[in-house]
Amino acid sequence: MTPEITILAIESSCDDTSAAVICDGFVLSNLIANQAVHKAYGGVVPELASRAHQANIVPVVSQALAAAGKRADEVSAVAFTRGPGLLGSLLVGTSFAKGFALARNIPLIAVNHLQAHVMSHFAMEHGKENRVPEFPFLCLLVSGGHTQLIVIRDHLSMELIGNTIDDAAGEAFDKCAKVMGLPYPGGPVIDRLAADGNPDAFHFAKPRIQGLDFSFSGLKTSFLYFLRDRVGEDPDFIARNLNDLAASLQRTIIEILIAKLVRASKETGIREIGIAGGVSANGGLRRAAAREAGKRGWNLFLPEFRYTTDNAAMIGITGYYSYLKSDFTDHSVIPVARIDT
Ligand code: KG4
Ligand code: ZN
Repeated sequence: MTPEITILAIESSCDDTSAAVICDGFVLSNLIANQAVHKAYGGVVPELASRAHQANIVPVVSQALAAAGKRADEVSAVAFTRGPGLLGSLLVGTSFAKGFALARNIPLIAVNHLQAHVMSHFAMEHGKENRVPEFPFLCLLVSGGHTQLIVIRDHLSMELIGNTIDDAAGEAFDKCAKVMGLPYPGGPVIDRLAADGNPDAFHFAKPRIQGLDFSFSGLKTSFLYFLRDRVGEDPDFIARNLNDLAASLQRTIIEILIAKLVRASKETGIREIGIAGGVSANGGLRRAAAREAGKRGWNLFLPEFRYTTDNAAMIGITGYYSYLKSDFTDHSVIPVARIDT
């Protein structure tokens, strides 16, 4: 009998401290400690994030091992997020992973956070149907820091075919939410408000960007100026129209994303389609993608909600496929804030 491959995975790129245990490609546990400390500041404060990771990491790892029913000496390798992300946050996860690997004399696996978001589509769970995409697979990665179109030819072989030239889609949600006085992160709040709003109430300028690239900074500016003018006429304009504003903004962002996804599918001829990253939790985006899938014969993959935002399970799944290829890193590895893809 071949021995089990058990990966302990650590994710600490932003404001969530997460640990997961993956065994032979199946997620046994996936724990996330959210950092409430940033709420009061309307965004993630890097210094506070690294301190909170430092406080959370040991208990989160212990809980992940306990929930998986695994002991530390049963772990085959440690996978951790190397970047992109906040350097101080990444340092906590990286140092912990190195310490664990050194103490147990097991391999260390460095994981690209963006690749891991895409790999969340391959997270399998016991007792579930576990539908996974076939290759080649086209993925729209939409998070707080990135908006990309990626062709996946094999588990770890990915090609970037489209990228944002300025803000990310999640950033557009968050910045516009902030302008409306909504709490951080704004994406989920806008999603909830939009459910009771009219998506055609207001119209905002959409970018005209060539090819498969995206742009969201113009939308943010157009939204800001629109609100400034309207609030000048009626100080209660935002409060009176909150649901319609959220729904109209969300519709605009979704239309920009779906138009490029459709174009990418046509250009590559790929109809195995997935959406990943925090914004893939958006109800409107999921419905719009499902509509396109029905119309265009796509085989659509939408990750479970727990795998949309940052989580260590996706790091562990990527680590598992790296393990199969003996793609290990040595202890001189350092985290990186940016990874040029
Ligand atoms: O993937 P993620 O957790 O972290 C990054 O790697 O950036 O994505 C976080 C982003 C935030 O911008 C957040 O507002 C957005 O995902 N987000 C959403 C929703 N849930 C999270 N945006 C729209 N609708 C949602 N339901
Ligand atoms: Zn992320």
